[in-house]
Amino acid sequence: MTRLNGKVALVTGGSRGIGAAIARKLAEDGADIAITYTSAAAKAGETVKAIEKFGRRAIAIRADNLDAAAVEAAVSEAHAKLGRLDILVNSAGVFSVDQIETATLDEFDRVMSIHVRASFVASKAAAALMGAGGRIVSIGSNLGERVPFPGLSIYATSKAALVGLTKALARDLGPKEITVNIVQPGSTDTDMNPANGDHADAQRALMAIPRFGQARDIAGIVAYLAGDEGRFITGSAFTIDGGTNI
Ligand SMILES: NC(=O)c1ccc[n+]([C@@H]2O[C@H](COP(=O)([O-])OP(=O)(O)OC[C@H]3O[C@@H](n4cnc5c(N)ncnc54)[C@H](OP(=O)(O)O)[C@@H]3O)[C@@H](O)[C@H]2O)c1
Repeated sequence: MTRLNGKVALVTGGSRGIGAAIARKLAEDGADIAITYTSAAAKAGETVKAIEKFGRRAIAIRADNLDAAAVEAAVSEAHAKLGRLDILVNSAGVFSVDQIETATLDEFDRVMSIHVRASFVASKAAAALMGAGGRIVSIGSNLGERVPFPGLSIYATSKAALVGLTKALARDLGPKEITVNIVQPGSTDTDMNPANGDHADAQRALMAIPRFGQARDIAGIVAYLAGDEGRFITGSAFTIDGGTNI
């Protein structure tokens, strides 16, 4: 018997990077898993296979976070195909950098839709299907709290908005014993932010532990929050960033 046995989780953006590591970790801990992705079907298939190796059921659903109806349908499909829904992880995301002089409203709307609007839609749909013991975890960013580089007006705003969404949902869903938290990674070695990228040294220079985190470093705390030990933790933000800019 493992700690998430009998539970079902939906991880948005579970095809690659942090979302894929979270999906694998929740499966390792015993949950059946649905993931969403938007374009990387082959990578989504690899995550599904990795989950199945743990003896868990897994499905991959194509659902673009820009399309609210598709996100809502993905929540329903996960519940219908896997029989219940206990855990939602809002991880799908994109990076965006531009100085305020050239940043566009279209990009603002795109990033806010992928990070904030879709998390609102998925959380609302999932909460309606969850019973007591439900868990919602959103993946924010340490840039939602501290902004050590220029060009982050859109990205940082979207991640800070997720903190407000988390606290407000925690209030609404607390009486139903559903917890809502946010995990805020720092520099984590993924396609979005490779440890050998052009701006990696500048990031390492800000860190108490001067190296990039691995996606599995983020997955551990998500699994903890998703388990029974997390039952009284809600409305909280957890920054996992090797001590960046402290
Ligand atoms: N890496 C870091 O240093 C870092 C730091 C702080 C926060 N974060 C946050 O962590 C989360 C995961 O990032 P990552 O580094 O793992 O990025 P990644 O490796 O680029 O993976 C991004 C994931 O999000 C999915 N996705 C992107 N746009 C989507 C859309 N419109 N609809 C549905 N899914 C979409 C991708 O699906 P496809 O595979 O189909 O494209 C993929 O599964 C993001 O929210 C990011 O902001 C990352």
